[in-house]
Amino acid sequence: MDEEAPSGVNPRIPNMARMYDYALGGKDNFAADREAVQKLFAMSPENRYVPLANRRFLRRAVRYAVEQGIEQFLDLGAGLPSQGNVHEVASRARVVYVDHDPVVAVHARALLATDESRVSLVQGDLREPETILKHPEVVRLIDFSRPVAVLFVSVLHGVADAEDPAGLVRAYARPLAPGSHLILSHLTREGHPAELVRRKEEVFARSNTVFSYRGRAEILSYFEGFELVEPGLTAVTAWRPDDPVPDADLEAAGSWWLGGVGRRAEGQ
Ligand SMILES: C[S@@+](CC[C@H](N)C(=O)[O-])C[C@H]1O[C@@H](n2cnc3c(N)ncnc32)[C@H](O)[C@@H]1O
Repeated sequence: MDEEAPSGVNPRIPNMARMYDYALGGKDNFAADREAVQKLFAMSPENRYVPLANRRFLRRAVRYAVEQGIEQFLDLGAGLPSQGNVHEVASRARVVYVDHDPVVAVHARALLATDESRVSLVQGDLREPETILKHPEVVRLIDFSRPVAVLFVSVLHGVADAEDPAGLVRAYARPLAPGSHLILSHLTREGHPAELVRRKEEVFARSNTVFSYRGRAEILSYFEGFELVEPGLTAVTAWRPDDPVPDADLEAAGSWWLGGVGRRAEGQ
């Protein structure tokens, strides 16, 4: 991206959307984002593949939801357009992307301009579920009387404990019809040396968002009201893998995330 930032964007402070974009090989980032990501890459060899492992989980989980008959998706914390975006994997579904980042909004709107009848982007804060759920674009494209897949993929680590991430998931789950799905992945400290987690958090502390590596029990609690589909909450690379030959770096990277898909049953 041109080093001249759009208005409202501070290019000197690393930012979640742009760091993730850089780590996935994108161009919509600034020097400060690249520098922060390079520090993470230098810490351990698998760090380079952490975003990719998550992104692949997202694609497999969306494909799974399509196979279950889901025709509408609400993607909270959508990120910069990358390869295999939700509306491309679910190529006939209606999709609403939500992201608060102005750079994401500019790029996503450009990408989606030709597909307006079934895809839209809401620039908004997912921590305001009432506003998001009533947004005219959500109302236009999502029919809550039918099953919906709601995605919280690699985003809740940016919501502080005090902002009640579990409560937020519950707020989005409330209007969902039976048969709806929750697709969720989260950075985890489970199984990793505390010192390495601390060093990573130190890099993220200089960005403009919270980065919380949470434990398994906490992440599992976000699925309350949903039945986890097989294989449950796992390292993202272990969730219905489809690579014929597992890649050791990718597998190691996958252990930094826990991911799963829950199905809302009748009466929940
Ligand atoms: C790490 S990216 C993940 C993108 C995508 N979900 C994926 O997994 O590939 C997280 C995205 O969530 C967005 N985000 C973080 N906090 C948010 C909030 N409170 N409201 C809306 N978007 C948010 C960031 O701007 C960023 O684009």
